[in-house]
Amino acid sequence: MAADASWWRDAVIYEIYIRSFGDGDGDGLGDIAGIRSRLPYLRDLGVDAIWITPWYPSPMADGGYDVADYCDIDPRFGTLADAQELIDEVHAQGMRIIVDLVPNHTSDHHPWFQEALAAGPGSPERARYLFRDGTSSGGPPNNWRSVFGGPAWTRVADGQWYLHLFDAHQPDLDWQHRDVRAEFESILRFWLDRGVDGFRVDVAHGLIKHADLPDIPTDHEDMLEPPDRTDHPHWDRPEVHEIYRSWRAIAESYGPDRVFVAEAWVAKPERLACYVRPDELHTAFNFDFLRCSWHADALRAVVDCTTRALDAVGAPPTWVLSNHDITRHVTRYGRASTRGGGSQHESHGPVDVALGRRRARAALLLMLALPGSAYLYQGEELGLEELEDLPIEVLQDPTWERSGRTARGRDGCRVPLPWSGFRPPFGFSPGDTPPWLPQPQRWVSLTAELQKREPDSMLALYHRALGVRRNHSALGEGGWSWLPSATGVLALHRTPGLVCIVNISGGPTALPRHERVLLSSEPLPDGALPADSAAWLEVADHHVPQRAAATSFPTDGVPGRW
Ligand code: BGC
Repeated sequence: MAADASWWRDAVIYEIYIRSFGDGDGDGLGDIAGIRSRLPYLRDLGVDAIWITPWYPSPMADGGYDVADYCDIDPRFGTLADAQELIDEVHAQGMRIIVDLVPNHTSDHHPWFQEALAAGPGSPERARYLFRDGTSSGGPPNNWRSVFGGPAWTRVADGQWYLHLFDAHQPDLDWQHRDVRAEFESILRFWLDRGVDGFRVDVAHGLIKHADLPDIPTDHEDMLEPPDRTDHPHWDRPEVHEIYRSWRAIAESYGPDRVFVAEAWVAKPERLACYVRPDELHTAFNFDFLRCSWHADALRAVVDCTTRALDAVGAPPTWVLSNHDITRHVTRYGRASTRGGGSQHESHGPVDVALGRRRARAALLLMLALPGSAYLYQGEELGLEELEDLPIEVLQDPTWERSGRTARGRDGCRVPLPWSGFRPPFGFSPGDTPPWLPQPQRWVSLTAELQKREPDSMLALYHRALGVRRNHSALGEGGWSWLPSATGVLALHRTPGLVCIVNISGGPTALPRHERVLLSSEPLPDGALPADSAAWLEVADHHVPQRAAATSFPTDGVPGRW
């Protein structure tokens, strides 16, 4: 591992959704042993770091984002000793490791919540959560809604209600309570002492609620959307920032290379920038990029607005196309409407998967050419599509039940990876145990084993692109500008000596003057760049024309959760 304090400013970080990456013990569920045995794959792929979704003891009401003990490992995933060995081995293989911190809520199995239930109304134990009496007419304390559907309040046997912005098994903590703050500071130290390189902060925009828990005004277009205002009673409240300042100080006490990445769904880049001011979190996911449609002007505007807002606070931008909450981008890009976000886990018409894959290849070259750091979601390197037709009996995402079985939820992007072989479980588990979500037989042509041998596969493209990115001094952090380009074409100049050109114009476009092609997402017949493809070109900087004007925030980049 390079002793580089600013490694995170342009790292490529691979998200491991632990339940679905690799199963070491043969129970059909991913685990730490499954990750360990596949570290060489990740090292060879060329990623700098891994982020592992929650691995703590959990009843799994929300896939582990319902934590019952923040300082242990769920026995289905392994032991604390296994986690330590993994941390050490990741480092020995030259990579870093980020773990998931879930501070907004605990599991209802967490000892604090069990104590709160037992202690009754008005007790100090209840004060760590948000218990309230209902209205005089017997309704919940206010009109807030759960992100997963239904009311955000559940009533307990003695008549009080508790708040849960997510599932009823995920009671929200009261971050005004000093025990809560002290507990999370000690959880940070617990994992930093074990050598983790950082934390992904779940729901970073949600920790503080308005003290009066007021109703959400009905003029908010959608009660769950983070608004472009500071008075939303539970999203993106200014008081969250003091929490992150205290966390930054803890991370710094371990050295400048221990970092945070915020999951903050906010209205626009300027608000995201507040989370990554120099004394707060280091980076934040840039969901505007993932929500953006496959459209040159919209993408250009997201890049401009993101970089402008983050430059103002000195933080590097991050780029991400998929994660465990969002419809896989192969599927999004294969639809007539390519925009991500909103309630996109409900089906939105037919999908042309081949077109989606072609665009995903081009999007990769764009993402990896942008300044800053990038996140990959497991399976995107294999070109996996969203599985939108999982049988309803296997669905596990709480969204399915809480939406009254109207929204299928996020299981379709969480299906276990196909590694090898000719039939499920495709090497995910040793032996034949069926994985916790079924894989389709058609993934036989997408296994990592097969794609390793095919020079034009998605995996081969990821491998080559990450290799060029690692070795080319223009990529990662550094200077960049747009070049003048035809309508529907993006041309990004990175100095020294590289142009990334992306063609979303619908027809072929001529390549700009260049010395040689470093990489392209498709073959380049007659020296032209075909539609829905991208290329990295080596150029002589003095031949590159003037930069094009910057754009303003895209009208279709409006916020949306999932
Ligand atoms: C995680 C989700 C999870 C939610 C509640 C998120 O943002 O990424 O998977 O359901 O937080 O913890």
